[in-house]
Amino acid sequence: MAISVYLVIIIFYAFVVGVFAQLTPTFYHETCPNATSIVLGIVEEALQTDPRIAASLVRLHFHDCFVDGCDGSILLDNTDTITALENACLGIVSCVDILVITLEESVNLSGGPSWDVPLGRKDSLTTNITLANEAIPSPFVTRDQLKANFFNQGLNSTNLIVLSGK
Ligand SMILES: *[C@@H]1O[C@H](CO)[C@@H](O)[C@H](O)[C@H]1NC(C)=O
Ligand SMILES: *[C@@H]1O[C@H](CO)[C@@H](O)[C@H](O)[C@H]1NC(C)=O
Ligand SMILES: *[C@@H]1O[C@H](CO)[C@@H](O)[C@H](O)[C@H]1NC(C)=O
Ligand SMILES: *[C@@H]1O[C@H](CO)[C@@H](O)[C@H](O)[C@H]1NC(C)=O
Repeated sequence: MAISVYLVIIIFYAFVVGVFAQLTPTFYHETCPNATSIVLGIVEEALQTDPRIAASLVRLHFHDCFVDGCDGSILLDNTDTITALENACLGIVSCVDILVITLEESVNLSGGPSWDVPLGRKDSLTTNITLANEAIPSPFVTRDQLKANFFNQGLNSTNLIVLSGK
């Protein structure tokens, strides 16, 4: 089960990344070479405090993708990761790339595989609370509504079970 969970996450990830052909794992090699290791350090620290954070971080990322694409619009500023990255490379690494690196680190540190994370996404400059409320299913919707909701994002019932546990 665990392996298939990770596989579906990777497939979901590939589907999301497919939209952005120009992304590359080496995007910050010149401008912020330590970006991934900074995020890794913080995720490791967080998981030592509370292992359940891994699942929360995966959820944060796919919820972000549900609203106008994966653009970091779900992320509020002032998290520890962003602060550390801003100290290291001011304004260079986008919030959405931090979320995506965080996802990979969470999966790997929880015993899952690792993969090269394509980077170079741009953050959204706007948020749309109406769209967020429409696109992110509330905890009270029926299973059929949930399925329809995921289907709108190109995700099937297997993806639904893996990502939401329902
Ligand atoms: C990256 O990390 C290494 C060692 O951790 C450090 O020596 C180097 O200055 C850092 N580079 C940047 C650009 O922050
Ligand atoms: C986690 O990633 C490392 C490489 O970064 C890899 O060696 C290790 O096998 C991965 N863990 C699992 C369970 O695949
Ligand atoms: C926000 O999303 C709603 C629902 O999709 C849409 O009707 C509205 O135009 C959007 N507002 C902005 C400012 O993009
Ligand atoms: C859903 O799609 C995944 C690939 O993303 C596939 O592995 C799985 O078999 C599909 N499940 C169903 C119920 O079609």
